[in-house]
Amino acid sequence: MFTNAIVRVPGKSLVNGLSDSKELGLPDYDKAIIQHHSYIEALQSCGLEVNILESCEDYPDSTFVEDVALITSNCAIITRPGAESRRGEVEQIMAVLKSQFNNLETIEAPGTIEAGDVMMVGNHYYIGLSDRTNLEGAEQLIELLVKHGHTGSTVELKDVLHLKTGLSYIENNMLIICGEFKSDPIFSGFNHIEIPESESYAANCIWVNDNVLIPAGYPLSKEKISSTGYNVIEVDVSEFKKLDGGLSCLSLRY
Ligand code: GLY
Repeated sequence: MFTNAIVRVPGKSLVNGLSDSKELGLPDYDKAIIQHHSYIEALQSCGLEVNILESCEDYPDSTFVEDVALITSNCAIITRPGAESRRGEVEQIMAVLKSQFNNLETIEAPGTIEAGDVMMVGNHYYIGLSDRTNLEGAEQLIELLVKHGHTGSTVELKDVLHLKTGLSYIENNMLIICGEFKSDPIFSGFNHIEIPESESYAANCIWVNDNVLIPAGYPLSKEKISSTGYNVIEVDVSEFKKLDGGLSCLSLRY
């Protein structure tokens, strides 16, 4: 069960965030603020206490707070984003986490990790090797995880930005899965809820205390996840999709 979450309010500089989805247009700041507020309410409705950090205009992508830290039951690890424009975000999150966590670790150069590439399954952490997360970073992360009583292993990515762009673990040995991961033998031991390509954005969901938050507007995915018995909560995150960000990227949950 999770008890806490950390989010960062988007800044007006959001429109300058990294994006490979330019065909969707620029995010609307006012709409993004409303959507972010609804996202916080959804987390609160699942019983989480949400620490809401002020916006940080210097870093347009800083609302995607998940990428810059990994919080486990035994430690917190500050990452080193592969995107150079995001590197400075780590100082901001370090300032927040150092007062809360005694076991605070860091990923060092030349390693890179963005925690959108890290999926927790119980005590094990799958780490996607992507354009943002390199092998050196993954090896450092596995060493730190083992030091603190966890395990980790790597997954090669082909098409997606982050591991959790196409994959979400929703407990009970169940994966929400799309695209390149459907046939990956690494995940053959799990039960799958397969997301159709036409709704691939819905593969990024989050499990929060027996609820599954999914992006609004993906009816086939909603039906599939609901029919397996989960309480599904839809949250509209269309403005964050324009920056390749999903539901998981918008919070640290622990
Ligand atoms: N815009 C989020 C990212 O690319 O990291």
